[in-house]
Amino acid sequence: MGKYIVAGNWKMNKLPSETYNYVKEVVEATKGSKCEVVCCTPFVCLAPAIEAAKGSHVKIGAENLHFEDKGAFTGEVSADMLRDMGVEYVIIGHSERRQYNNETDETVNLKTKKALEKGLIPIVCVGETLEQREAGITMDLIAIQIKKAFAGIPAADAKKVIIAYEPIWAIGTGKTATSDQAEEVCGGIRKVIAELYCEKCAPEFTIQYGGSMKPSNAAELMSKPDIDGGLIGGASLVAADFAAITKAVE
Ligand code: PGA
Repeated sequence: MGKYIVAGNWKMNKLPSETYNYVKEVVEATKGSKCEVVCCTPFVCLAPAIEAAKGSHVKIGAENLHFEDKGAFTGEVSADMLRDMGVEYVIIGHSERRQYNNETDETVNLKTKKALEKGLIPIVCVGETLEQREAGITMDLIAIQIKKAFAGIPAADAKKVIIAYEPIWAIGTGKTATSDQAEEVCGGIRKVIAELYCEKCAPEFTIQYGGSMKPSNAAELMSKPDIDGGLIGGASLVAADFAAITKAVE
């Protein structure tokens, strides 16, 4: 299926002063991994992260960006600013930003288009709440999130977008989706992509699972045909755990 990518999402953890040494640790620990390894860090940690990853296989990503090029947006960070620093990836539409920062399917679409225009690789997050899962509307909801995120994006660009399926009830809760539950939705996402673009190119998209992925469940989850890696929160904060997840890709 798609290219395997394991990305850490540090969230609001780790200090700028800890970042250089920690990323160096990640570089050492993930040597020989058979997947792309990415650390997505808070804005203030990006500079030391990039410095530490320089010349290595580890890529650095941000956790958000603004969809406008520049202007009067106090506290915001643009795609050009990220590119200028050497950032390569950016997480868009994480459920925490949807919940706490008014991120919507519309802003996710605008941000995804801006990231692509500026040469950043977007990691677009989708996922359902426990209530939505119990109401039996998971796949309908995810299909809408995907269709809105990809609106107006041509096939050639769309393939660069990484999709992260993150059931909200599994994030930071220790409750992982079973590999069958995760595969069902990731396979469903691939079908939506096939509908939007083409049958033939859908297998080329990278679809990650995220939500309490850890060394003990990573291999099982990533052995599923439609799961091409992971977006890792808690377990990305300990280099040995993060590395073990990257090594679970076979
Ligand atoms: P978690 O977070 O691994 O701590 O559940 C995943 C994420 O939010 O990306």
